[in-house]
Amino acid sequence: MSENYYTHLECHECGAVYDKNSKNTFCTKDNQPLVARYNLNNSWSKDSLKGRPNNMWRYQEVLPVLKDENKVCLGEGMTPMIALDRLKDKNEQAQLLLKDESGNPTGSFKARGIGMALSKAKELGVKAMCIPTAGNAGSALSAYCAKAGIEAHIFMPETTPQVFQLDCEIMGAKVTKVDGDISDAAALMQKKNDGSWFDITTLKEPFRLEGKKTMGYEIAEQLNWTLPDVIIYPTGGGTGLIGIWKAFQEMKEMGWINNIPTRMVAVQVAGCDPVVQSFEKRIDHTPKYENPVETIANGLRVPKAFGDKLIMKTLYESNGTAVSVTDDEMKEGLSEFAKNEGVFLSPEGAAVWMGYKKLKAENWIKNNESVVLINTGSAYKYVENLY
Ligand SMILES: Cc1ncc(COP(=O)(O)O)c(C=O)c1O
Repeated sequence: MSENYYTHLECHECGAVYDKNSKNTFCTKDNQPLVARYNLNNSWSKDSLKGRPNNMWRYQEVLPVLKDENKVCLGEGMTPMIALDRLKDKNEQAQLLLKDESGNPTGSFKARGIGMALSKAKELGVKAMCIPTAGNAGSALSAYCAKAGIEAHIFMPETTPQVFQLDCEIMGAKVTKVDGDISDAAALMQKKNDGSWFDITTLKEPFRLEGKKTMGYEIAEQLNWTLPDVIIYPTGGGTGLIGIWKAFQEMKEMGWINNIPTRMVAVQVAGCDPVVQSFEKRIDHTPKYENPVETIANGLRVPKAFGDKLIMKTLYESNGTAVSVTDDEMKEGLSEFAKNEGVFLSPEGAAVWMGYKKLKAENWIKNNESVVLINTGSAYKYVENLY
């Protein structure tokens, strides 16, 4: 086993320090997310990555799982970076790339975060886990729990596409459908949890973030250790956005990259866009969004993210922005993207594409810049939303 530089957990807000194997899933002092910290003043060289397995565990030195035997791997990570040549030319963009997460186990980027959280939970001796989900995280938790022999309890809105429920049930998870949105699912789950289920609600535990951050390491590695000018990400709970930004800070501290030119963009759905609203007011948190619209992009129907302050911090620190798109725009974007590039995006991915077009039209994104779009999931899970 190679070295591991994981040292402790820290509250991002008050700086309180927790033991690295603590089961405190968030900071009990101020009710904010904990983040994993590493000794980044280390001798780990990026050259050592050559020849390592093509999955997220290739960055194991800066991941929280300490023992190889606890890593539960279904092949997550090292997803393709696709050059969007036709759309690049049509939009006169110097570089336009798609980080396509749809090929991950269970069809979404959730495999990274859940794979990491599950592996760490296994290391900590956890026997049962629970999650509120818009669909993809539930599928992923069910799969990883099945592989690890851990019990899974999934709470999802009843409007979630059926295939997600089927996915969870076929893998042996216990599924509860809830009349409401993901926050209502979370509330019911908390009521039902007598304390014996390990709760991995987005950012209420620190290790999903560590899985998601591997997208940031991969983007850098795939671009030969340079970073794009803009990354556009469909933001619900925000783990991917925050994680990619965290990876960039870590790489800079280790001397793997010299500077971070990247502006991070959050795309949300009009009618449930708390981050966009707060960004416009330049505030550091997001009040709960009341009466969120139904949307074809289930993953974006998040009226209140537990990691809201970290989302806002990422946007401000990176000089990024936030933009909303409608369901009609997503449908239009899906079709345009598929016809030009042969990729059937998830609705969340289509939101990213339309976010790009809006920012390009406003000249917030310039012709000479490089842009990475994240397609977070597989379109095929959403068929019933798209007919
Ligand atoms: C396909 C897809 N994209 C984006 C998101 C939002 O991700 P995050 O919660 O990391 O912002 C989700 C969450 O369910 C999702 O399933």
